[in-house]
Amino acid sequence: MKWNATLYDNKHGFVAKYGEDVLGWLAPQHGENILDVGCGTGTLTSKIAVSGAMVTGIDASPEMIEKATEVFPHIQFFERDATDFSFEKKFDAVFSNAVFHWIKNQQQLLQCIYDNLQTGGRLVYEMGAKHNIENIHNAVKKVLMEEGFEKNTNIELNYFSSAAQQAVMLENIGFTISNIIQFERPTELSGTDGMKNWIMQFAQPFFSNITEEKKNVMIEKAVAALKETNFENGKWYADYIRLRVKAIKK
Ligand code: BEZ
Repeated sequence: MKWNATLYDNKHGFVAKYGEDVLGWLAPQHGENILDVGCGTGTLTSKIAVSGAMVTGIDASPEMIEKATEVFPHIQFFERDATDFSFEKKFDAVFSNAVFHWIKNQQQLLQCIYDNLQTGGRLVYEMGAKHNIENIHNAVKKVLMEEGFEKNTNIELNYFSSAAQQAVMLENIGFTISNIIQFERPTELSGTDGMKNWIMQFAQPFFSNITEEKKNVMIEKAVAALKETNFENGKWYADYIRLRVKAIKK
């Protein structure tokens, strides 16, 4: 998926804002060596750096890495695949916010992180949980079906795990779970075009090989249908369900 770093920062700043809660679970310490997996434009990476930790950011998107490096030149950012990376020095902690649900091979992702952690190191992350944004994806798929683009509905865009599934995977790799929670967090989207912007940024692969004009009509239709479930008191909400984890490499 190609990321629009400007749209991400301008319209979806809530991703980093909510991520600050997850930083509370990380509790970065001065002098620690910390990795931010899927750092995006580097907003949370820079917050980790404020603690005095030595932080490195990785992301698979060259657009995101370019922007992060430009905005935070004092931090090291690298374009890397989260399921296949290694650094000379192992990390005291690995952090990630709103990224793991984009990665199909969860086993390889968690194993790669485990291999890059020191013994006693911690992994702290938040991702979309089972049934995350179900209303939005269902509305998009329904419109695609109605307009004759059934094939486009067959993609597995995200991996949304239950706490139970994630816990089994972590333990099988060798992590010990220190804390794990799953919770609903309806998330306000910015402005009257909030839902349209969300779909344009995060659901665009559903519309591959469809003309811009047709795509816009279908997005409008999906947005109209979502008014019933995801619009309240003049505001758009994404039906987010979060899974937050702290696990230790013993
Ligand atoms: C999430 O943060 O849960 C999410 C964001 C965009 C697309 C899918 C999930």
